[in-house]
Amino acid sequence: MQLGVCYYPEHWPRAQWAEDARRMHAMGIRVVRIAEFAWSVIEAEPGVFTWDWLDEAVETLHAAGLGVVMCTPTATPPKWLVDRMPDMVAIDLQGRPRGFGSRRHYCFSHAGYRAESRRISRAVAERYGQHPAVVAWQTDNEYGCHDTVLSLSESARQGFRRWLAARYTTIDALNTAWGTVFWSQVYRSFDEIDLPALTVTEAHPAHRLDWRRFSSDEVVAFNREQVAILRELSPGRPVSHNFMGFFTEFNHHDVAADLDIATWDTYPLGVTQMLFLSAEEKARWARTGHPDIPSFHHDLYRGMCRDGRWWVMEQQPGPVNWAHWNPAPEDGMVRLWSWQAFAHGAEVVSYFRWRQAPFAQEQMHTGLLRPDASEDQGAIEAAQVGAELAALTLDEAGPVRLAVQAPVAMVFDYAAIWMLQIQPQGADFNPLELQFRAYEGLRRLGLDVDLVPADADLSGYRLIVLAAQPQIGATLQASLEAAAARGAQIVLGPRAGSKSEHLSFPAGDSPTGHGLPPGSLAALAGMQVQRVASLPPGCAEPVVVGGQSVQITRWREDLALAEGTEVLAAFADGHAALTRRGPVRCVAGWLDTDGWQAVFTGAAADAGLAAQALPEGLRLSRAGDLLLAFNFSDRCLDAPALPTAAPLLGQRPLPPRGLAIWRT
Ligand code: GAL
Repeated sequence: MQLGVCYYPEHWPRAQWAEDARRMHAMGIRVVRIAEFAWSVIEAEPGVFTWDWLDEAVETLHAAGLGVVMCTPTATPPKWLVDRMPDMVAIDLQGRPRGFGSRRHYCFSHAGYRAESRRISRAVAERYGQHPAVVAWQTDNEYGCHDTVLSLSESARQGFRRWLAARYTTIDALNTAWGTVFWSQVYRSFDEIDLPALTVTEAHPAHRLDWRRFSSDEVVAFNREQVAILRELSPGRPVSHNFMGFFTEFNHHDVAADLDIATWDTYPLGVTQMLFLSAEEKARWARTGHPDIPSFHHDLYRGMCRDGRWWVMEQQPGPVNWAHWNPAPEDGMVRLWSWQAFAHGAEVVSYFRWRQAPFAQEQMHTGLLRPDASEDQGAIEAAQVGAELAALTLDEAGPVRLAVQAPVAMVFDYAAIWMLQIQPQGADFNPLELQFRAYEGLRRLGLDVDLVPADADLSGYRLIVLAAQPQIGATLQASLEAAAARGAQIVLGPRAGSKSEHLSFPAGDSPTGHGLPPGSLAALAGMQVQRVASLPPGCAEPVVVGGQSVQITRWREDLALAEGTEVLAAFADGHAALTRRGPVRCVAGWLDTDGWQAVFTGAAADAGLAAQALPEGLRLSRAGDLLLAFNFSDRCLDAPALPTAAPLLGQRPLPPRGLAIWRT
């Protein structure tokens, strides 16, 4: 467990660097990420490289005992490059070229830019690949940020056609798979297929889904080219990329398959303001962030790379500049967020950024230091975490271990999100929110959760949740059958198994060859979905789950039940709202967090998991031999679930924004 920071030596006088490095180390910081936006300073003229400043920055950090995360600078191609190759920019969904003057203006599909990305990555890797200061690499910066995955460029169009030809081999196969007979969309060749945008009304869903898949694969290929260069020139040093929260424009599992460390950038207050949360929640969590937003992503990114390595690459240190409103964290939150990440298994928590920039776009975004180099609150709390880490690892029982193995798996599948975004069927059917509300329900019960891909090995889990999973692939189907056979509890959310991989109804044993949801899950679930309806705002349907009254809103399904399937909760009209068949529960509608919590209370009991409702704002994490408790509220909190023994750190009851750690 280490602290890190994001640093921009090119923004500051050289005379300042050594003092910055000294102060970082004194604060407990051990790794420093640099150079992800430095292309125009490294190569001010085409082919003319200026390395002396970066050499000196690296040496200065190294001399202070700091490790460097070196970046490829491809998120910010310089002006001279765009001028030379104007068609390298992405084209937005209104058909407009993305302009120069901010960042991420390139199109992933442009062959010329891909060559430039390899060229500059090679130059940086040749220079620093063997440098003893370099402890890790980062490719690019936040792929997809500012809506930059989907591009309507000519390069993307040509690339999409090649991608389709490789996937379907013949145009007839594509026509059949998509169902292009609808609205006379039958194609004669792959060269006739355009990008599914700017159509008169909704474009074909299968066409859109494949475009999402293609666009995701372009990000994967772009990243893979850089990774190959870094592995060649800097063997043995881990390669990472910094992903974003609630961002699903490309398949992160696919990108992470080429990385050693998944990192992500956590801005809890900014995201709380920008997200689907209610106005009441945004106000309640304005200065702490919603407690489950960071951990949802910690649990997602822990499942990305083969051996579970993950970091926070950018941690919010104070108010940011980019949300609708940018409140200040309560004192103590920077420390709490840092420990929350470690509790979920982070190796490194790195703050963004060392010092607030006095100029340019992000001058209103705080850093650990203010623009005049004085310490802001973030610095005080980072130093506290640094001191606590040093003290904890010296505990007499030996080094603290934070390997996380959760008893609950929630499947998080990017293609599933795309499918439900393409055909929401109700304006507020937001699959990310559905996932998040289910997760929140689990976390309110103190359950530890792994967010896993659809092809994950599910054999170690006692409770498996598919909150938003329309397509059930063969691997997932087999995993669920095996899990049910060994008695693991399974909870299926609305729309489970409702679609094929081409976003049509699932195949079935009927005269038409099509079946009804939940498709291949029908035998396990013991039910069939006969009709679905989205519910406009205000159309809530109350149901009672485990003695608790909860609301179904936004979506409901009418089920036909197989013999022997139990009804655990029913709508007022008598239709089943929650069913159970053996270890499999099915939820026939959209639940809010209270509803999910009620469903999971029963499922956790059947799974033999000790779940108990925690007071609002209290969260627990078990990590290795530790139990960690976090208080996000502004009251002192206690709970019967907390150990009576003296904590290694903190106290019981927990003060507002306090944390406590026990060795169990
Ligand atoms: C991230 C980005 C950083 C910085 C930060 C501000 O999205 O990676 O470069 O812009 O947000 O909060």
